[in-house]
Amino acid sequence: MTRKTVRDYIRTIPDFPTPGIMFRDITTLLADPRGFRMCVDQILHPYADQRIDKVVGLEARGFILGGAVAHQLNKGLVLVRKKGKLPAATLSQDYNLEYGSATMEIHDDALQAGERVLIVDDLLATGGTAEAGIKLCERLGAEVVGCSFIVDLPDLGGRERLTALGIAVDALCA
Ligand code: PRP
Ligand code: ADE
Repeated sequence: MTRKTVRDYIRTIPDFPTPGIMFRDITTLLADPRGFRMCVDQILHPYADQRIDKVVGLEARGFILGGAVAHQLNKGLVLVRKKGKLPAATLSQDYNLEYGSATMEIHDDALQAGERVLIVDDLLATGGTAEAGIKLCERLGAEVVGCSFIVDLPDLGGRERLTALGIAVDALCA
């Protein structure tokens, strides 16, 4: 019997949400206790010897993963949300989508200068969402020690985009 990998727990749904998109559905991974734990353990593995002060989760599926990673590290979780969702004073960062643009926000007191943060999300596509998250953290004076994803869609160039910013990128599967 071969051991299942993280990739084996993820299913691909063709033509969702629009024709031509191969949607990577992580709900099947999250629903399996071995799959979910394997995922959190593998995300943390490269950081075993590094200090991380906060975990930053990107809306929305990054919140689920970020919560589990932060709990495992015994550290706090900071939310980067889409515009208009956070109740207190925020910093905003615009970013480009494949078509059009959007805005992510962070509470302006969510991170302290010098804190070392790990950003997590379920999936890296163009890297626009993660770049906005990186910029928000850096604008608060935090140091982004890395960005970790469950899935990388390599054809969309996100890894190169984030690496060009000097950020370490890890993904568990493509
Ligand atoms: C998805 C995914 C990432 C982002 C990746 O989120 O969860 O956050 O897209 O794309 P990018 O690398 O091109 O920026 P989505 O925007 O669909 O929002 P949701 O998680 O709130 O559904
Ligand atoms: N976000 C952007 N592209 C995606 C894809 N193919 N599957 C899941 N989430 C996505």
